[in-house]
Amino acid sequence: MDNFSGKIAVITGGGTGMGRELARQLVAQGASVAMCDLLADNVAETKRICEADGLRPGARVTTHIADVADEQAMLRFAAEVARDHATDHIHLLFNNAGIGGGASFINAPRAEWDRVFNICWNGVYLSCRAFMPMLLKADEGAVVNTSSANGFWAALGPNIPHTAYSAAKFAVKGFTEALINDFRNNAPHLKAHIVMPGGVGTPIGLNSRRILVGDNVPLTEFEKGEMRKRFATLGIPGAMEMDEPALLEAQQEMIKRFETMAPTTAAGAATIILDGVKAGRWRILVGEDVTRLDKRVRQNPEVAYEVDFAAYAPFAEGEEPRFG
Ligand SMILES: NC(=O)c1ccc[n+]([C@@H]2O[C@H](COP(=O)([O-])OP(=O)(O)OC[C@H]3O[C@@H](n4cnc5c(N)ncnc54)[C@H](O)[C@@H]3O)[C@@H](O)[C@H]2O)c1
Repeated sequence: MDNFSGKIAVITGGGTGMGRELARQLVAQGASVAMCDLLADNVAETKRICEADGLRPGARVTTHIADVADEQAMLRFAAEVARDHATDHIHLLFNNAGIGGGASFINAPRAEWDRVFNICWNGVYLSCRAFMPMLLKADEGAVVNTSSANGFWAALGPNIPHTAYSAAKFAVKGFTEALINDFRNNAPHLKAHIVMPGGVGTPIGLNSRRILVGDNVPLTEFEKGEMRKRFATLGIPGAMEMDEPALLEAQQEMIKRFETMAPTTAAGAATIILDGVKAGRWRILVGEDVTRLDKRVRQNPEVAYEVDFAAYAPFAEGEEPRFG
């Protein structure tokens, strides 16, 4: 698919970050977009941004509230897309929604672990189930699934576990790669693309907590303990004595720095993804950081989890490598 004009694209997690930028750039290239999210304020803002510069005649932008981990909600979302876009088919499915959390299999609360895994893996699976009938009816189409650097390297940095997210992102990568042969044999008008971003400047940290626990909910003792340990590992002075306001302030600061200093912007990431789809590349690495990491892990997988495996060039001396 070398052109998006007149195409109908579905995006999960269009509220902020890469989903918002995919929507904006697809609309600018003449596509219609239907996007879902759980955070209504953010997805309404994405629609406003998409429509601000005008739409191609006949194009539509619609927003939908749906939890990608809930099959009934995704089936409802698909029915709404058919109704609101007056169509029986779609051309592009971007399975982009995701959250972080569930770092340790040993210590993280079970509910958090399961929620992260269910959003990051089942969200992709259930979305493919819900929209496959509409993709099969298109003349050409693409499924674009967002995995991560954690889809081939299951850590956040030396000694930092990342179990729920990595397990889900490995599953997304394996499923998508398997779809390549499946489509070639059984639906040759469809292509499957796997997206593996490195560090991309988005508010994923903020959104993840909003989705996991809600807005303005006090930190649990477990969260406080984990944050203190994390900040201490990062060398933040007095980390182990921080009270809740200090922890939240330090966290806001880290999230802000991540958004502004990550190696790739959300807009840059969306351009790389869309160019990759147009070029027909099934494997889309987003950012030089992840491209480097991919090479290093492939070259010498046996050392990938050694403590001194400096996977990323950190932003500044002493900072951990970071990506969602
Ligand atoms: N930012 C990074 O560094 C990075 C790196 C690698 C992979 N990723 C992946 O990229 C994708 C996009 O993330 P982003 O960084 O743009 O973050 P983001 O938080 O800006 O975007 C994710 C969107 O998904 C939505 N969402 C989360 N759970 C949902 C659910 N259950 N149902 C519907 N919507 C839901 C969020 O509200 C948000 O709008 C995610 O899959 C993420 O795991 C991000």
